[in-house]
Amino acid sequence: MNRRASKIFRRAPAAPGTTAPVAVVEGIERRDGLDRAIGAVQGAVRRGLPKGPAKDALHGVPAGHPVHPPLTDLPIGAWSSAAILDLLPGTRRASQVLVAAGLAGAVPTALTGLADWSELHREQQRVGLVHALSTGTASLLYTVSLVARVRGREGAGRALGFAGLTALMAGGYLGGHLAFRQAAGANHADLTSHLVPLGWHDLCAAAELPDGWPVQRRLGYLDLFVLRRGDDVHVLADRCSHLAGPLHQGRIVTDDAGDACVVCPWHGSTFRVDDGSVVHGPATARQPAFESRVLDSGTVQVRPLT
Ligand code: FES
Repeated sequence: MNRRASKIFRRAPAAPGTTAPVAVVEGIERRDGLDRAIGAVQGAVRRGLPKGPAKDALHGVPAGHPVHPPLTDLPIGAWSSAAILDLLPGTRRASQVLVAAGLAGAVPTALTGLADWSELHREQQRVGLVHALSTGTASLLYTVSLVARVRGREGAGRALGFAGLTALMAGGYLGGHLAFRQAAGANHADLTSHLVPLGWHDLCAAAELPDGWPVQRRLGYLDLFVLRRGDDVHVLADRCSHLAGPLHQGRIVTDDAGDACVVCPWHGSTFRVDDGSVVHGPATARQPAFESRVLDSGTVQVRPLT
């Protein structure tokens, strides 16, 4: 390994009690030597997959949650099944079909993963890049494995398949770290149903709210995005459901139907201010919304929309 490569992949000192695999992945999170490559790949992905309905579908906006994690079941399921069949006699044809099916499933899996990866924080992207390299290596090995099997070189095909499965498992471990430790794809909006009791709550005076300009106000433990438009006051949870960006710092726009929306300043997720529904990703989860009213005293009251 040359000096640059060893700088990128060297292990960081492990914190007490940290297991070796976790220490390796946390080291990847901090490897700024990956950032130049990440910038280049991210630029290419964003040019190839511009924001719009197609990218929204890849993020999983219509489904209401990311679609990349469930799609990974296709190649993982097909290839791990092929590995089991490769250990049994008389399964040549079935293994070949499963390897081919895994390759077919890898295409939408990779596309959805790239779309999500292009809108993550840098520490997540570092882990995601190595995850993609691992799973890409697995796909390459299974492609060569399939060619070998079709040409009748069954032993080589099986050996390449087991090598591919090893790369796939490494990539799967990194994907688990991304999803569960780094919370990529999770809903980051505050759980208002747990933080705000039922009923109306005093929020602020209507007179202190600028017209057409969002501000942040606090309700108990909760930061809220508050937008007054004339006599209407729109209130959402302020932490963006994508990665907790501050919505009150976002731009106000109108969607194709003429509804007012806020665009998150971090990655451009767009939510309707009326009900928090997602207009554009990368966010896939609705932003928690509040009903509001202004009392004769001029006090703005809010209660969670159910
Ligand atoms: S934090 Fe990513 S779009 Fe809001």
